[in-house]
Amino acid sequence: MTQPPSSPPPERGLFVAFEGGDGAGKSTQVRLLVTALTAAGRSVVVTRQPGGTELGSQIRDLLLHGGEVSPRAEALLFAADKAQHVDHLIRPALDRGEDVVTDRYTDSSIAYQGAGRDLGPDEIHRLLDWAVGGLFPDLTIVLDVPAEVGRQRRGSVHDRLEREHDEFHDRVRRHFLDLAAAAPARYLVVDGTQPPARLHTEIVTRLHGIPALAGLREASG
Ligand code: TMP
Repeated sequence: MTQPPSSPPPERGLFVAFEGGDGAGKSTQVRLLVTALTAAGRSVVVTRQPGGTELGSQIRDLLLHGGEVSPRAEALLFAADKAQHVDHLIRPALDRGEDVVTDRYTDSSIAYQGAGRDLGPDEIHRLLDWAVGGLFPDLTIVLDVPAEVGRQRRGSVHDRLEREHDEFHDRVRRHFLDLAAAAPARYLVVDGTQPPARLHTEIVTRLHGIPALAGLREASG
């Protein structure tokens, strides 16, 4: 049985993160959810990690399109992006009462660096907890797709992480599912191989569990 997501504290905006493997279809679902929230009269800040700030965009280039980066350096650079992002964009927006929808957040580091790179999910979790000052999403939506489906959808364009072999992406996928299974009230896992409109319906239905969003309607298209 699904559980309602935890409601944000009164006065604070809703914080939703999308997570999942590469090629899972997160950007489409981010766009549809932002459209639905905005149509419901809510003020929404949409962002992505790495990126979302000027420093974050530079870190993104270094991490995804630069040269060799050691696993620990990689974890620290992703953590630095998140620290900047939370201090300069996410926490101020939530404190103003705006909703924040982010394409990836801390679970990406726990799954990719912790499980994929084998640095240890618990250690990465502690690093991230410090980096984001204990700010975690009200709801994390995991778009689950098998590694080979993600690879087919990405075609021939691959960044530094996407170039990793399927076993790496399988470890990442399994870890996202483990994180969700350990805290079902804070997660929704959807089958990313389903049509985008059906996934959007599942997501909106889950958000109806938050009293302020009981009347949320689906975005069209
Ligand atoms: P994307 O924004 O296009 O999904 O690409 C970001 C890539 O970076 C993706 O392969 C996942 C990876 N990543 C990490 O390894 N750790 C992180 O903390 C984040 C945010 C992304």
